[in-house]
Amino acid sequence: MKIMGKATARPSLALVKYWGKQSVRENTPATGSLALTLDGLVTTTTVEEAEDDRIVLNGRVGNPAPYKTFLDEIRDQLGLGGRFFSIVSDNSFPTAAGLASSSSGFAALTGALAAFAGARLTPKELSRLARKGSGSATRSIWGGFTVYEAGAKEAYQEHDEDFWPEFRVLAAVVSDKPKPEGSRNAMEASRLTSPYYGEWVRTSPDLLKKARKALDRRDLATLGPLVRQSYLRMFATMFTSDPPLIYWQEESLALVRTLEDLRREGLEAFETMDAGPQVKIFCLEKDLDTLKTELEKRCNRSGNLNFLVSRPGAGLQTERLEIQP
Ligand code: DP6
Repeated sequence: MKIMGKATARPSLALVKYWGKQSVRENTPATGSLALTLDGLVTTTTVEEAEDDRIVLNGRVGNPAPYKTFLDEIRDQLGLGGRFFSIVSDNSFPTAAGLASSSSGFAALTGALAAFAGARLTPKELSRLARKGSGSATRSIWGGFTVYEAGAKEAYQEHDEDFWPEFRVLAAVVSDKPKPEGSRNAMEASRLTSPYYGEWVRTSPDLLKKARKALDRRDLATLGPLVRQSYLRMFATMFTSDPPLIYWQEESLALVRTLEDLRREGLEAFETMDAGPQVKIFCLEKDLDTLKTELEKRCNRSGNLNFLVSRPGAGLQTERLEIQP
């Protein structure tokens, strides 16, 4: 009989950003984050025992070396020491292009290995394990809206996926090419070289507190400007790193400016960005069609932009498959 562990997880998109580590060894965040898990964009991962670690990402054989430290740690924690795995992982969205795929990727891998091991772990325990793979994966274990506090070893759910059913995210995919620098190295560069990093860390608890309050009240008009402040302050530390980190492309800035125009015209839509050129826009369901039509008209004459719509989604789902020969 063959045993397989299978898991699905969705990306965690931060409204208030985690950028910079309190402890590099423990992979704990210097800034607390507030995020939502996105429905519609799914990572599915299966693991089965093999003679060596092997990984296939979106149909392509990958190099398992970058995953070794994480795999060794999780093997240790799950009592799987000395065993190797064939890992197959597929994303239903562009990988490594700033759509937070490391969050769903490491959450799904954690879940698949836990399912293989037959470990009955709580979401809190899974969140702690996933953290070693990626900070944002700590949040992807849960659905809905999540909080991951500065210095914490796990995230928790603030509101489930049914809390704000009208909430929508329109991701404008500017480029599906892999980003030039991964967030792990980039946030370390910000911490070590940006003169604004200290201020970023110092001012983020206040932003998080205010954003959580606005979210509690489902108050988009208050939440939106706080979300913008968070990503713009985070980018200020990237722009002022040495050498500078510039993820934005012309199309990203055009979208940011167009959204300013649309807000002046009365549309309630607010953007955020991560370590990549994509622009992710928050609005309510009633405004989604207008938002999409206007962005198509004003920013997408070349037809190069792709739009993905999602809403608050579910957390990690795992399954242990016992396959008869
Ligand atoms: C900009 O979670 O990818 O998406 O912990 O080093 O793996 P590591 O970093 P990662 O960084 C996420 C950064 C961000 C903001 C966020 O998701 O909060």
